[in-house]
Amino acid sequence: MSEPLIIDCDPGQDDAVALLVALAARERFDLLGVCTVGGNVPLDLTTTNALKVLELAGRTDVPVFAGCQNPLMRPLVTAEYVMGNDGLAGAELPPPRTAPAATHAVQFLVETLRQAERPVTIATLGPLTNLALALAMDPSIRRGIGRTVMMGGTMHRGNIVPQAEYNIYVDPHAARIVLNAGLDPVLIGLDVTHQVVNTIARIEAIAGIGTRAATAVARMFLPHARIQEGLPPDAKPRGLMHDPCVLAWLLRPELFGGRRVHVGVETDSEVTLGATVVDWWGVTKREPNATVLKEIDVEGFFALVSESLARLP
Ligand code: RIB
Ligand code: CA
Repeated sequence: MSEPLIIDCDPGQDDAVALLVALAARERFDLLGVCTVGGNVPLDLTTTNALKVLELAGRTDVPVFAGCQNPLMRPLVTAEYVMGNDGLAGAELPPPRTAPAATHAVQFLVETLRQAERPVTIATLGPLTNLALALAMDPSIRRGIGRTVMMGGTMHRGNIVPQAEYNIYVDPHAARIVLNAGLDPVLIGLDVTHQVVNTIARIEAIAGIGTRAATAVARMFLPHARIQEGLPPDAKPRGLMHDPCVLAWLLRPELFGGRRVHVGVETDSEVTLGATVVDWWGVTKREPNATVLKEIDVEGFFALVSESLARLP
């Protein structure tokens, strides 16, 4: 039986790779829908990009649902400086021939989870605005959710600000709602994703796969790898494949290590806004509410990504 899956994302170069990994595992996942949110680039572009990636993979059978344009309480902060103005710099994908569904992503989440006959896995790759609103609209949808795995957070250094990771920082209020909803998510943060550094050799190996999907991924990430290799050892890693780590965990959890802990989110202080406060040693005695991952088998990860891209057109 394939696993019912909903992916909520803000494509975004690394979101695109995560979608491709999911689409390549066709026998493993029943991908019910792709929800988009304003994030790396504005909603109209994240939605267009999701359509482009599904067409690249030959999977226009998967519906796309556009979601929230902006975070719950803060202005949207985008990341064109990493992803390019259209969000998929380098991919050179044609304009989509398909269109998103008419249903809003939050409505899709609520309706789908209300009537789910089997628990649905939720994978989030962007700010958590859509999922938070769906939980606010109807908390009972929790009963339709099986596993939740999210790219977000950091125990140490941030990426967009010193203390926070982008997805959480953009909508910290949504992150707090989701973390307090009893979903017991798996959280894959920068402590993991900063290990999957793009080297020129790794990306050239992807380019050598030769499929359209692999070629598009290599085009997106080779420029990042070239800059990465010129950086000093302790510089902030560049243009990482954060989001595919979420699909890698779903497909091969043995590649990862972590522990169940309590995670809080700072939503008030301007100085530490978006910080994920991870009680790794349990010093607060607060009930754990998430599994935070810390280890990853980097070679195993890139092998999985390459194997996936080789399975696509
Ligand atoms: O901090 C990295 C995360 O923010 C990734 O999901 C990237 O796509 C952006 O959404
Ligand atoms: Ca993302």
